[in-house]
This record gives sequence, C-alpha cells and structure tokens, in this order.
Amino acid sequence: MADALTLDPQWNRDFMGRDPLALLDQVYRRYGPEVILASSFGAEDVVLIDMACQVAAAPEVFCLDTGLLFPETYALIERIVARYPIRYRAVQPRLSLAQQAGEFGPELWARDPAACCGLRKVEPVLRVLDGKRAWITGIRRDQSPTRKNAQLMEWDEAHHLVKVNPLAYWSEEMVWEYIERRGLEYNPLHDENYPSIGCAPCTRAVQPGEPSRAGRWSGFDKTECGLHAD
Ligand code: ADX
Ligand code: SF4
Repeated sequence: MADALTLDPQWNRDFMGRDPLALLDQVYRRYGPEVILASSFGAEDVVLIDMACQVAAAPEVFCLDTGLLFPETYALIERIVARYPIRYRAVQPRLSLAQQAGEFGPELWARDPAACCGLRKVEPVLRVLDGKRAWITGIRRDQSPTRKNAQLMEWDEAHHLVKVNPLAYWSEEMVWEYIERRGLEYNPLHDENYPSIGCAPCTRAVQPGEPSRAGRWSGFDKTECGLHAD
C-alpha cells in the first residue's frame, strides 16, 4: 500500500504543465538523501542529471551497470561524472559475466533475455532502492503504449517507494531542445538512429518509421526489462 505520508497525489495536479525543475526542486526538498536518480545515460537521463544539479547539492545517481553497455555509454558516463557534482554509483550484478556464463551458459541474453535482465537489472535495482523513499526516472508517456499512463509522481508497487517521472509529459522534441539549449553531453549513438539505448547485445538501430523502442530486444516478445511495470 502507498505510504500516504510519502506520496502526495496533489503534486500531480500542482506540477502538471510546469517546468520539471519545479517538481524536482520539491522532490529534493522533501526526500533529501532518500531520493535517488536512475540513469542509463540516455537523452532523458542527461536532462534529468542537469536539472537535478540545479536544485540539489550532490544528487545521488545510479546506473545498473550490466557489464554489457556500449563503449559509447561508458565513455559518456566518464564525461558526465567529470562535469557534474553527482554522487555516482555503478551498481553491479551479483554474478560477473563469466560467472553467469558458467551457471547459465554463454550469451544468456540471446536465449532468455528475461532471465538475463532478472540477474543483471531487476535484482540489482531492488538492492539499490532498498532504504530509499523515492526514485527519479526518465520515463515519458509517448515512449511506448506501456508508458502512456505514467504520472509525474506515482506509487511504485513493485519496489515500495515513490516513483517520480518529471519528464512524463515531455515529447522527444522537448528533450532535444533542452539538450541543445544547455549544451549537454549525450550518447553519440543517438545520432546513429539509436533513440533508445540499453545493453549492446539487446539494442539495435531503428529504421525510418519504426517506433523509438523497436531496437530494444528486437526479435523477442519483450518490451521492458523489468525495472518498469509493463
Ligand atoms: S528500459 O526499462 O527499457 O531499460 P529505458 O531504457 O527506456 O528503460 O529507460 C527508462 C528509464 O529507466 C531511464 O530514463 C532511467 O531512469 C531508467 N533506467 C533504464 N535503464 C537503466 C539502467 N541501466 N540503470 C539505471 N536506470 C536505468
Ligand atoms: Fe541482459 Fe539484454 Fe537485459 Fe542487458 S538488456 S541485462 S544484456 S537481457
């Protein structure tokens, strides 16, 4: 059950149509060290890190480092960590890639991506969110049908804390307008037809006309990695 003291549904009305900075400012005031920002260093996430640093002194940011991110993503992480005063945590799976291959066979992602995401993302995120009261994500409503009801602030039943999606109502154009206006670092793969970037083995470029998330787990009946409800 939602903790009435931590989730204020009125905020969804109060912050609707307003600058996400205003919402983030209130979130950091309210939750302080008990809020953490989830980043895979996609376009939305670099926007949120830039915004968080305008309203909080040293916001805590985590990335689920599966060990399988693109080299471009690892290079971007280094540039962002150098540029912003964030407290950055790379969260590792319990099993190294070699241990996973030893237990489950090689390239589990190619045979059973749900199991691989379970080991490399879903279990680690439980650990990092344990003890927190809120997390911030870059989910937007128009990213996919599964995200069309995302709220600015909602109760995350799976993880038992408040989930804040400050960009829920932003379009892709708004994200890129912000990135350009503020001169932000971003993943160069976005310029090569990768609108949505996850692990390298499970992400491909999209073709003209394809939905932005078509390049994720292409060929599998899978649209979410388990961090977000589908
Ligand atoms: S995913 O579930 O398919 O991987 P997507 O890539 O669209 O999600 O990212 C949506 C949001 O989930 C990101 O803006 C970020 O807040 C969070 N997220 C996704 N992947 C990670 C990751 N590896 N580490 C931390 N947060 C992540
Ligand atoms: Fe494994 Fe692919 Fe999930 Fe990454 S996205 S954890 S490689 S199945």
